[in-house]
Amino acid sequence: MANVTVIGAQWGDEGKGKIIDWLSNRAEMVVRFQGGNNAGHTIVVGDKTYKLSLLPSGVIQGKRSIIGNGVVVDPWSLLDEIGRIAAAGLAITPDVLVLAENAVLVLPLHRELDALREDAASQKIGTTKRGIGPAYEDKVGRRAIRAIDLADPASLPGKIERLLAHHNVLRRGFGAPDVDADGLLAALNEIAPKIAPFIGSSWRELDAARIAGKRVLFEGAQAVLLDIDHGTYPFVTSSNTVAGQAAAGAGVSPRAIGTVLGIVKSYTTRVGEGPFPTELTDATGEKLGVRGHEFGTVTGRKRRCGWFDAVLVRQTCITGGVDGICLTKLDVLDGFDEINICTAYELDGKRFDYLPADANMQARLTPVYETLEGWQETTAGARSWAELPANAIKYVRRVEELIGAPVSLLSTSPDRDDTIMVSDPFVDR
Ligand code: GDP
Ligand code: IMO
Ligand code: MG
Repeated sequence: MANVTVIGAQWGDEGKGKIIDWLSNRAEMVVRFQGGNNAGHTIVVGDKTYKLSLLPSGVIQGKRSIIGNGVVVDPWSLLDEIGRIAAAGLAITPDVLVLAENAVLVLPLHRELDALREDAASQKIGTTKRGIGPAYEDKVGRRAIRAIDLADPASLPGKIERLLAHHNVLRRGFGAPDVDADGLLAALNEIAPKIAPFIGSSWRELDAARIAGKRVLFEGAQAVLLDIDHGTYPFVTSSNTVAGQAAAGAGVSPRAIGTVLGIVKSYTTRVGEGPFPTELTDATGEKLGVRGHEFGTVTGRKRRCGWFDAVLVRQTCITGGVDGICLTKLDVLDGFDEINICTAYELDGKRFDYLPADANMQARLTPVYETLEGWQETTAGARSWAELPANAIKYVRRVEELIGAPVSLLSTSPDRDDTIMVSDPFVDR
């Protein structure tokens, strides 16, 4: 039996949360390995809806859940989320949740800097303003405050001083006041005892799981097109979102990643700025958005919508390391007379079967479409292949062919149980 790593294979919001929740009853541990509370995962179980940002989606099934070292963690947001989930009837105790001691903290000054930059920029990224980028910058700049530092209050004033020496210079450039060092120290000391019970070691937990032969599910946030290296730079997030990051961001061997499942929406969406070759700004785009309820979980922003882009997904399966995909939201395509799939791009009389790396070129690409006949029957709630109309099956098969990866799972509604398993990603290939 292999482990499984789940990643997003488009621009995020593909339905990773739903699928990780569904898969987590086949695993004994669920591990987040990058990103932070910029992620927003909606999980629907019967009449209950859970919205998670930092907590691994395994918590819904009570699985031991690790926030790995690669995640940047806003501790106030984490406690809020634990409170919200507790109010919904799920107690998140240290028996369930472990926060890696070497994970970097997102502080109010990171959120503030994120917002100052976005508000001042003429070319905005459209970030979630959760401070994710600034926190990763401080990590790489070796001045970040980490979870373990909360356990050593005596060391905090020196660490804060070092951090503020950097941040106050930046803030003055925006005309913002210096950070109140005493206030930050007091806030960290106040929160420390509440976070302390969760602090542990990601790599040691996972090593013990390996020795005990436990199955682990690695949970990616964001998606390959938002990856800092492989995404549509600079309109990306500040972490690596590809499967390989699961090893570095959790402290395991690259061989422990197991089978990589890419989550792929049956059409394309994007929140925030940046190129989007198949974007539809017409009534069809509006229809996809309305039918798919395409509003961001984190910021409430309307998601941009467009046709399925096979060029992009073929590429992200390669750069992300995807073995097979889960195709979600097939039901949203019910009732269209015709459905387009992008199979190539054109630019200045040249044809591209990949996404050129240059951002200016990406913004000017024209999609080349193949048109498939739609289906009028409903796929919503289908739980087996046999329930799918012939044209829906043709669509799925054509997607597989064009992206060069097999469909392992299909999702036909937000509900956990409306999932079709074609092949079990946990079974060794
Ligand atoms: P994530 O960030 O990848 O976890 O995805 P989000 O939760 O942000 O967005 C996906 C949205 O689609 C959520 O509201 C899900 O409840 C919903 N969803 C997931 N799978 C399906 C599906 O197969 N059909 C429909 N109609 N909705 C789905
Ligand atoms: P999940 O896990 C969709 C986008 C933001 C912005 C860019 C950078 O729910 O799929 P950031 O705040 O990370 O610096 O913003 O990345 N973004 C997401 N888009 N889903 C997400 O997460 C995202 N997380 C970040 O909209 O364009
Ligand atoms: Mg989301």
